Amino acid sequence: MCGIVACRTDAPVAPFLIGALALLEYRGYDSAGVTVRTTGGITATSRTIARVESLSHKLAGWSGATLPGAGIGHTRWATHGAVTETNAHPHLDCSGRVSIVHNGIIENAEALRRELAARGHRLITQVDSEVISHLVEEELRESGDLRAAVEATIARLTGSWAIVALDADTGRLVAATHRSPLLVASSPSGVFAASDVQAIGSRVDGFQAMRDGDVVELADELIWTRDGQPATPPPFVRSSWTAVVRDLDGHPDFMGKEIAEQPETAARIIDQLAPGIANGALWDGLGIPDFRRVAVLGCGTSLNAGRVVGSAFGALGRLPVSSIIASEASETVLEPGTLVIALSQSGETADVLRAIEDLDLAESSLLALTNTAHSTLARTADSVLDCQAGPEIGVAATKTFVAQAISGVAMALSALVATGRMSRETALLHVDDLRRLPDLLAHAIAVSHDRIPPLIDALHDASGYLFLGRGSGVVYAAEGALKLKELSYRWAEHYPAGELKHGPLALIELGTPVVVIDSGDPRIESNISEVEARGGRVIRIGGAGSTIPALGLSLGTPMPGGMDRWGPLESVVPLQVLARDLALSLGRDVDKPRNLAKSVTVE
Ligand code: F6R
Repeated sequence: MCGIVACRTDAPVAPFLIGALALLEYRGYDSAGVTVRTTGGITATSRTIARVESLSHKLAGWSGATLPGAGIGHTRWATHGAVTETNAHPHLDCSGRVSIVHNGIIENAEALRRELAARGHRLITQVDSEVISHLVEEELRESGDLRAAVEATIARLTGSWAIVALDADTGRLVAATHRSPLLVASSPSGVFAASDVQAIGSRVDGFQAMRDGDVVELADELIWTRDGQPATPPPFVRSSWTAVVRDLDGHPDFMGKEIAEQPETAARIIDQLAPGIANGALWDGLGIPDFRRVAVLGCGTSLNAGRVVGSAFGALGRLPVSSIIASEASETVLEPGTLVIALSQSGETADVLRAIEDLDLAESSLLALTNTAHSTLARTADSVLDCQAGPEIGVAATKTFVAQAISGVAMALSALVATGRMSRETALLHVDDLRRLPDLLAHAIAVSHDRIPPLIDALHDASGYLFLGRGSGVVYAAEGALKLKELSYRWAEHYPAGELKHGPLALIELGTPVVVIDSGDPRIESNISEVEARGGRVIRIGGAGSTIPALGLSLGTPMPGGMDRWGPLESVVPLQVLARDLALSLGRDVDKPRNLAKSVTVE
């Protein structure tokens, strides 16, 4: 989703900004732009609705861009206003002196827009952010000081913002934040601001995370203020940065590569976490007090992974478990003694961050389960479990789901031992189960690639899909429906199979595809019969004899003593492959599905 980068550097500015924006591309975006000011005082703004790299071509003819100086850049994911070059950031004031980039939402933009227009400003975009540049313009006219102008501007805004403003006359750069993350850093090669350490990691060895209300001038060094007064800077966070390798490794797309990586990812995580399960050390190392109930919190695929983790606590530990949709958390009342597990691969999801603000956590603990150890979520939580999926370039989550589920279940088992709810012997049986997972995932991949392609032709024209499961299978049905709709842009819904006869059976017509996760509950047979009796086309994901015999049962070993309570995790593989194969046959971009972002920074 929207990403910001800004810098004052002795190195060429435009190539740095464009390279940094390219490193933010993975978050998802629909347009991009930069404003560059050289030390000679020339300023150029360029925007595109094509790929970030096209900005290089646009700026190539401009000699000033290669000189050192200051600049700001942005990747936009449209919320207000269509995807057009005009609506892309940076946004300028009437005179072209002030340019700004903004993440977040200005809730009082319409009122401000009317006021500004009445005072003679020309607002030319449909974007809420544009009001900021005009407010800074007015304040700058008053005070002549960019920092004071930004301070005065943010006092007039409601909503959320990470802003960087550039004054073309002086080359000054000022950042401000409220409910939207921004990192700042200084190093011998310059001063920098970015939404994500990925963008600046090659230039700095750490960063400071701006807090709500902080204003920072990116001068030769960082100058921190709040409400116009000098402020104590937040702690420095050291970051060891390794460039994300963007190598397809022979795969046609990153989604295909990341599906294939799941067995290896699972094996790596289990090897690392298994020694801390049966002795409770993994849990003890997190330093979280005992708890009486569990709530999992997240959005989309991360919430589904959270439900898997929650069912391990519930089914194996007999603990009360609830799941909280982050965007609906504001009315949730937490019981004292709740362990809240917030799951987010990006750690920047605005709904999750807002939920944490809204929930009364005074008598509860917050554990972040994330793939981004430097994220806002990680910094906010009492403790962090890094799910260690490694980089996931495909925007739709695949291996991060598997990584979150495995690391979360390992943590749950360890917690149950450490808090006296599970014996060491029982935990060791579950560790054996976990150690079988890489093979089960590899088997599911092989079966899926064999059985799914021949099904695609018959599914190609279906306009809607149902996904059904029972017990532990329901959450996988939910994940299957989510993956199919986000990748293929076809309707897909999921239901606990028993609910079918309470309404959704009306949707079944001749040939309606119904994907059934058969996780071993015998009652699923009558639900399948109900679908078949109405002409529905059943695609059963299960053991031997299924349409896609990808589950552990098909290996000829019995379902082990616990995994059926929170698994079968490998059932997610055929669901991912089905969604990808169908999407490819429909000509979709499986790595960048429309309207989906890797880092969803608006509520
Ligand atoms: C699905 C998907 C989204 C995310 C959701 C939460 O493939 O990618 O549903 O799971 O936006 O994102 P994170 O995990 O970053 O909080």
